[in-house]
Amino acid sequence: MLLPCVRRVAARRLSRDLPLACSCPAQGPAPRGYSRGAGGKGLVLGVYSSEKDDGAAQFTSAGDAFDRLVSGKLRELLSLCGPPLKKGKTRIFHGLHQDFPSVVVVGLGKKNAGVNDQENWNEGKENIRAAVAVGCRQIQDLEIPCVEVDPCGDAQSAAEGAVLGLHEYNELKQKKKPIVTPQLHGSAESEAWQKGVIYAEGQNLARYLMEAPANYITPIKFAEHIEQKLRSFSNVKVHIRPESWITTEQMGAFLSVAKGSSEPPIFLEIHYLGAANTDDSPLVFVGKGVTFDSGGISLKPSSGMDAMRADMGGAATICSAIVTAATLNLPLNIIGLAPLCENMPSGKANKPGDVVRAKNGKTIQVDNTDAEGRLLLADALCYAHNFNARAIVNAATLTGAMDVALGSAATGVFTNSSWLWTHLYEASILTGDRVWRMPLFEHYTKQVTDCPLADVSNIGKYSRAGGACTAAAFLKEFVTASHWAHLDIAGVMSNKDEVPYLRKGMAGRPTRTLVEFAARLSQDSHNAK
Ligand code: BES
Ligand code: ZN
Ligand code: ZN
Repeated sequence: MLLPCVRRVAARRLSRDLPLACSCPAQGPAPRGYSRGAGGKGLVLGVYSSEKDDGAAQFTSAGDAFDRLVSGKLRELLSLCGPPLKKGKTRIFHGLHQDFPSVVVVGLGKKNAGVNDQENWNEGKENIRAAVAVGCRQIQDLEIPCVEVDPCGDAQSAAEGAVLGLHEYNELKQKKKPIVTPQLHGSAESEAWQKGVIYAEGQNLARYLMEAPANYITPIKFAEHIEQKLRSFSNVKVHIRPESWITTEQMGAFLSVAKGSSEPPIFLEIHYLGAANTDDSPLVFVGKGVTFDSGGISLKPSSGMDAMRADMGGAATICSAIVTAATLNLPLNIIGLAPLCENMPSGKANKPGDVVRAKNGKTIQVDNTDAEGRLLLADALCYAHNFNARAIVNAATLTGAMDVALGSAATGVFTNSSWLWTHLYEASILTGDRVWRMPLFEHYTKQVTDCPLADVSNIGKYSRAGGACTAAAFLKEFVTASHWAHLDIAGVMSNKDEVPYLRKGMAGRPTRTLVEFAARLSQDSHNAK
């Protein structure tokens, strides 16, 4: 393909002293002999948008250092290549330096971008994640197995962008994308880089579990996968509770959903004892673990039903957050509870109008068998009250209505505690995986407690109106703790292209926010001592 005029001039001028080629991302693989299989590394460098009229590139400190290493050729090439790089746009240079056969320069947007209080996130961090992800993917397209990444002044965000941006589920394909290992460019900030890698790998674990087909991730397979991830930690105990245990615990609501499937249910219970005092009150996480939601007798339409393999996203994100907390050795105690089962139609399945009894004795009229998540959670929330929790936080792909309300912009948080809300909200500003507070009004409670046959109905009496809020009001009937939050993650379950550093597929959100929240809570207890 012909290079545009400016670039041809640039290439001609520099070809006197450099084996050089400059290409735009769309221009395909690197020229022969420069990168593929050459054993060299790729390099991703950030560049801020120009603040001056001259349009000169504003390099990061790593970019500046590299430019000096190549005697100012990077700056020269960039200025000859065209207008200043816009946020997320890239240019690739081949043959600039023998250690880095291919160098991707990527636009970071404006320098010193911080918290944007309209967007409720740290824009600088989001820009770095997005830019690094784009740069690393270009190196992957060139089939270069290793990439060094500019920390861009925030190595944690850079690592998150790299590790999240490169992740793809291709477990079951014969032809896989080449594996690329990202590394920090330079030696400063290696602790922050490592922290970012751990946060991102946590989210990738949740993505993996959510993306995997439901015949691969059954309740028992889910539990075994998490148990295997936690095996090496001496301060973690994992209990894989079978159906007999669930029966003994009188979890009638959970069992009523599970009995429709021939796949046995599991109640997964994790104890992470990270606090210096193992008796410290734990943070209790609860996650909806429906490994496939067909809707049951209130069957869902077949189109798009495959996405309901990710209806265990609540369980996946809370368990992955605990794996991450253990890896980071966070100084607090966390208990994770995940009721796991399938929701299937069968001769044994719940029927609309059936009444079941939850662990706390409350009766529930199952008016719609597709509102099954709240039945599992009702029992798991009752059980969560056994641990004298500092806070109970549950996550669930609970309602399509949540997706209608906020789409994929933010997780909806329903909470009876402003203290808990503040911690979750502040954590999410840092991670960029946002939360938005939703109401728990009595208004919605009345709509689920006005029930002909039982104490509570599993759907609101005005059917679809305020569906996410009536679901939250239902859960509240099973909570007496004063610090409880329900996170409805149905809207953030999957990604098309909204989050630029996640590929299309199941998103694993908001794992990093849960981890950051736990980290903040552990700081809180330190301060209190
Ligand atoms: N798992 C679904 C909710 C869901 C929908 C999650 C889309 C992710 C994406 C849940 O079990 C469900 O089916 N809820 C019903 C409730 C209704 C019957 C009151 C819904 O949202 O339609
Ligand atoms: Zn359902
Ligand atoms: Zn569901």
